[in-house]
Amino acid sequence: MLKYHKETQKNFSVRIVRWYRLNSRNLPWRENNDPYRVWLSEVMLQQTRVEQGLPYFQKFVKKFETIFKLASAQEDVVLRLWQGLGYYSRARNLHRCSKIIATELNGEFPASAKALQRLPGIGEYTAAAIASISFGEKVAVVDGNVFRVLSRYFGIEVPINSSEGKKVFSTLAQQQLNESPDPKLPPGEYNQGIMELGALVCTPRSPRCADCPVSAGCFAYNKNLIEDLPVKLAKAGKRERYLYYLMPIQGKSVWMKKRSQSDIWKGLYDFPCIESDSELKAAALKQKCKSMAGHGEVALLGSVTHLLTHQKLFIACLTMTGVNEVSLKKNFEGKWYTQKEVVRLPKPKVIDDLLKIYFKKISQGK
Ligand code: ADE
Repeated sequence: MLKYHKETQKNFSVRIVRWYRLNSRNLPWRENNDPYRVWLSEVMLQQTRVEQGLPYFQKFVKKFETIFKLASAQEDVVLRLWQGLGYYSRARNLHRCSKIIATELNGEFPASAKALQRLPGIGEYTAAAIASISFGEKVAVVDGNVFRVLSRYFGIEVPINSSEGKKVFSTLAQQQLNESPDPKLPPGEYNQGIMELGALVCTPRSPRCADCPVSAGCFAYNKNLIEDLPVKLAKAGKRERYLYYLMPIQGKSVWMKKRSQSDIWKGLYDFPCIESDSELKAAALKQKCKSMAGHGEVALLGSVTHLLTHQKLFIACLTMTGVNEVSLKKNFEGKWYTQKEVVRLPKPKVIDDLLKIYFKKISQGK
């Protein structure tokens, strides 16, 4: 153990806050710590980098200046604005939550992490972020950045994606707040500081240890173990799914349906789909399409691979003209939408990409 190790470890939280005050990024939700803006940003930033989430945040606060405006919006409009960010249950829960706060709580966010967690879509992390940043509650956040910083700094080898790891790291994060040498340490700045350090300095690869305010006390830095921490258990392989979309076309209109199944794309619009656990041969697929939608012309529009957290999707899209509407309706729900209407519907990113390919093709007269 280095001579100053214990001493510097005691000052971890103080150094983090001091560093944060000098180095934090100028982000729009940090201007006034308003709970509505903090909540929006924290939900948007789950599984999303700041650079990717920022334009969405700006679009959202422009369109829905207050929680009342968000609460009175149509779900389609909220999902359309979320299009491309993924994990759409976040948007559906955000909307449900806004309605509860607007109608039952007079537009006021509950001020404690415990009460916040009773609302839809607000889990342990989001509740701790809002309660500490907006209301100054002494409750620590634990996200991927926090896992990484604490694991390296304190030299903890417990896997971050194990249930033991979750307990160990949340206890340690809370300890830094409770046992800080500064009794007035602002919890919101400490929480944002450790996340900001993880995002800007203590990065997963090639961390910038020379710029780190706590490198002197860092176990991994001092033992040359930066590359080995944190430890993560290997995950089970992703489930592979083959989705064959059939895009029925009639003039400039496209047949689409709103997904009602309780899955990741609930509430979004897509085309009739044939799903399989293995790859289907082109001839078999065409035959299947024709038997379900009439004997029209079938052509491959494009194919993509789409990676989700637990799934790998192989997606191919076939256009079909001259469909038989009676058999189409019998096999698939939905209706015709004009190009103008299609643009306004909320769609999964892959569906939006396929439509763009199609509309580009017809605008070029192909
Ligand atoms: N990532 C998610 N929320 C954050 C925050 N409030 N500060 C820094 N990084 C974050």
